[in-house]
Amino acid sequence: MVEESAPSLVKQINAIYHDVEAQFYNARHPEIFDYEQEELLGMARLVVERLSGFDTVTCIDFGTGTGFIPEFFAKTLMGYEKPSFRWVLCDISLTMLQVARERLKNRGCQVLGCVVMDAERPAFKAGSADVITVNSVLHHLPAPQEFVRECLGLLHYGGLLVISHEPKLGYYRSFLWHVVKGVQYVYSRLKYLRTALQPRQQVGNSRNALFWEQVESKLGAAKITHLSREQVQKLVDFHSPTAGGSLGPNRGLDALHLVSGGWEIVQTHTYAHLGKLALKQPKHSLLRRIDKVLRVVFPRAGSLFWVVARKAQQ
Ligand SMILES: C[S@@+](CC[C@H](N)C(=O)[O-])C[C@H]1O[C@@H](n2cnc3c(N)ncnc32)[C@H](O)[C@@H]1O
Repeated sequence: MVEESAPSLVKQINAIYHDVEAQFYNARHPEIFDYEQEELLGMARLVVERLSGFDTVTCIDFGTGTGFIPEFFAKTLMGYEKPSFRWVLCDISLTMLQVARERLKNRGCQVLGCVVMDAERPAFKAGSADVITVNSVLHHLPAPQEFVRECLGLLHYGGLLVISHEPKLGYYRSFLWHVVKGVQYVYSRLKYLRTALQPRQQVGNSRNALFWEQVESKLGAAKITHLSREQVQKLVDFHSPTAGGSLGPNRGLDALHLVSGGWEIVQTHTYAHLGKLALKQPKHSLLRRIDKVLRVVFPRAGSLFWVVARKAQQ
């Protein structure tokens, strides 16, 4: 039923959900601000080096959320003389953009403007961007391929599309995932670790309850009352294999399929080899170390991917 929902409902629910999530976002997603930064450093350096001939780069960040990507690039750029990045921030959620604008003040980001916009229907001049970034957004879109096609029009030849933190199609059917499931089972039964994790969990639980109360109240005001929390989550994370608590091994995205036709792939990379298991663990924990080793041994087998593609000359 969720898979057959109208694209307009998916977008409306995304806007409501993320309007509420804006105030909780950084606390609910510590993995983006810790684990992710380490994983995306290679991607950000690659982009900056490719653009080193430019003095100024105009970048559109779609699904900007609380501004992780512009802030991350500002940090990465600190060691480089040029280029300087100018950002246009877009999101379907007005509240996310308000939080991003406030957060990015005094963080070394030049923000040209913030636009409430559906990423699948971007209203910018053709060829107006040097770079397009989109982190952890495509799995929220009903038709990510349509978004990627629109990006071809927005970039000039040689412009870069940077897609990151997307669930890789096939991971939850792979051999590695079956091994991870075993590790997960053993891990969940280590009593002393579970006890150590409990206090953190309680804070997380009350925050989560408050979050869902607010989402349900806003959905009610929009006369959307027929969906359970699991169904709402599945609509929000439309292409995510783990959305709503149950596993959908046939959901996910394929980097090579996304950027086919009109694109030249600069580089792809996979990470998070232990699925969600290592994402929220402390930096030097055993699971994070195992995750790193797996990345070296099986470079293409991670659960998440990033890809940098270049608009090709016709
Ligand atoms: C998981 S958050 C990622 C935020 C940010 N890019 C980051 O890395 O932290 C997904 C973001 O995509 C936005 N979004 C969802 N559907 C969208 C759509 N159709 N058009 C534009 N933005 C959308 C949400 O409002 C939310 O801010």
